[in-house]
Amino acid sequence: MELNFDYSTITTEIEIDVMSLSDLELIANGAYSPLQGFLGKADYESVLENMRLSNGVIWSIPITLPVCEKVAEKLRIGEIIKLKHKNDTYGILELIEMYTPNKLEEAKKVYQTTDENHPGVKKLFERPNVYLAGPITLLKIPPKERIFEQYYKTPLETRNEFKNNNWETVVGFQTRNPIHRAHEYIQKAALETVDGLFLNPLVGETKSDDIPATIRMKSYEVLLKNYYPDDRVCLAVFPAAMRYAGPKEAIFHALVRKNYGCTHFIVGRDHAGVGNYYGTFDAQKIFTQLSSEEIGIMILGFEHSFYCTKCENMATSKTCPHNKEDHLHLSGTKVREMLRKGIIPPPQFSRPEVIETLINGLKDS
Ligand code: ADX
Repeated sequence: MELNFDYSTITTEIEIDVMSLSDLELIANGAYSPLQGFLGKADYESVLENMRLSNGVIWSIPITLPVCEKVAEKLRIGEIIKLKHKNDTYGILELIEMYTPNKLEEAKKVYQTTDENHPGVKKLFERPNVYLAGPITLLKIPPKERIFEQYYKTPLETRNEFKNNNWETVVGFQTRNPIHRAHEYIQKAALETVDGLFLNPLVGETKSDDIPATIRMKSYEVLLKNYYPDDRVCLAVFPAAMRYAGPKEAIFHALVRKNYGCTHFIVGRDHAGVGNYYGTFDAQKIFTQLSSEEIGIMILGFEHSFYCTKCENMATSKTCPHNKEDHLHLSGTKVREMLRKGIIPPPQFSRPEVIETLINGLKDS
């Protein structure tokens, strides 16, 4: 949105939450392209019903700006509104539309459940009940991103970096966890066939028992330093909030990584899942509803990977003939549980340098 007047003359302002703040930034920097602003009603309903914007372009997660009724009552369509968070103005919105969503429908369509024990559904119901829509302008990068300054890169910057590295093919990897051996295995299996790996950990809002991003970043640094070729990996933060929407979020994650310049995207077991709300491979299956030309990025689906004590390496059912008893199944949840109980996960689970960083980080936090 281009505005030809002095921003300081804008008197209407609203407070936005951390999730909206990260969405504001990611709309503005092109990570959420083609979105230009928070979704209007037609787009919102179309995303829920068809996984597409009303113009037919694929989009699977509604990006909305909720405010409470009391705040909404005072706003006028057409006005320019300052978007504030904790006394700082981060952006402006040209208010085109206000509408009241049917949150039960939104929960069913996006999360496939209305159970408030689901962290994404809980968040949805906790947020206020009127959605504001319209194009936005970012005036200031949110403070959280400054913590990760070194790894804060816009889609334009990563695309240039990939080009300068002469990477024609780049695989994107989403994670909200420290990298364990299963992650490393699927990343490196992909890296065998593409030019570069874009390690793009999500550092926005996550549920309270996920490992804090500041600690995770240190664990990524130590892992990359010791086990990855320096010239084949690009590490950058993804400031979005985690939705835990499983399949729908996998599509969103893939579209965003395409905008960062990736040609391929990894979807493993229970991608963006939580608890038992989604089937282990639902997040892969959903892509069969979409043509790869339309989605514009190649999905690399991986089986559940594990450490096999007979093979003495990482494998999946596609590459290992041994029995279940020979397999050590790894997951971020398991590593977190062990760390919390003071148990040191074995090297088959996680690299010792990573564990050391996590233990030190959690001790200090
Ligand atoms: S997520 O919520 O960000 O998807 P996580 O950080 O655990 O969670 O996973 C990152 C990526 O690795 C996802 O694509 C996920 O499907 C994949 N993944 C995690 N663990 C395994 C595993 N043991 N086998 C195969 N893929 C896995």
